[in-house]
Amino acid sequence: MRTFLMYSHATTNPNFDSSNTYEAGRLDVVVRCCLNVMWISEHIRDNAQFIVSLNGGPKPPIAIKFDGSKLGNIIPSEQGIAHVIKKALRAVRDENWVSCHQGVSVSRKSLQGLIKEVDTLYVLDARGMNIYKAVPREGTYLFGDHAGIPAKELAFALRKGERISLGRHTYLASFAVAVVNWVLDQK
Ligand SMILES: C[S@@+](CC[C@H](N)C(=O)[O-])C[C@H]1O[C@@H](n2cnc3c(N)ncnc32)[C@H](O)[C@@H]1O
Repeated sequence: MRTFLMYSHATTNPNFDSSNTYEAGRLDVVVRCCLNVMWISEHIRDNAQFIVSLNGGPKPPIAIKFDGSKLGNIIPSEQGIAHVIKKALRAVRDENWVSCHQGVSVSRKSLQGLIKEVDTLYVLDARGMNIYKAVPREGTYLFGDHAGIPAKELAFALRKGERISLGRHTYLASFAVAVVNWVLDQK
């Protein structure tokens, strides 16, 4: 199983406008990453999980988990994913995972709380070891949104995981996860 763990600055307000996710703290980036992690064309990857840690107002943090081995009944479009995120933001209670859709659950766990539960952690960062030399395996891949991973969260993650780089260019988050999925698919 591979898990992609995203730090996002996007909103925790369920009343965001699904037709304008850009204005919701760049929830558009989250939605595109979810699509690239979870879908191979029309098929859901049953060996992948996508967890996003939302840290925007009004009441962060909120974590939403998409589990490919159970996921169903989602239209693989940006609006389809946004609709499920809305449901999750309405369903959240406390740090316990609550199911809000088939294969999707939500909790108030922080990024650091999520990292504590991980065994094998890789941090996607251009300053890391090149992905071809590092030979990464299935595990958890932490990455940031358009604004990256905040320094405090990055420092916490690096106490546990190693940096993996896709090269010297800074890529879109949705591109970076697609590349990692592809590299792991070659094994
Ligand atoms: C658009 S980038 C973030 C840019 C942000 N200004 C920064 O400095 O981190 C989104 C995420 O994609 C991942 N990423 C982008 N380029 C990468 C690269 N060359 N190697 C590894 N990860 C990369 C990182 O996790 C990054 O947080």
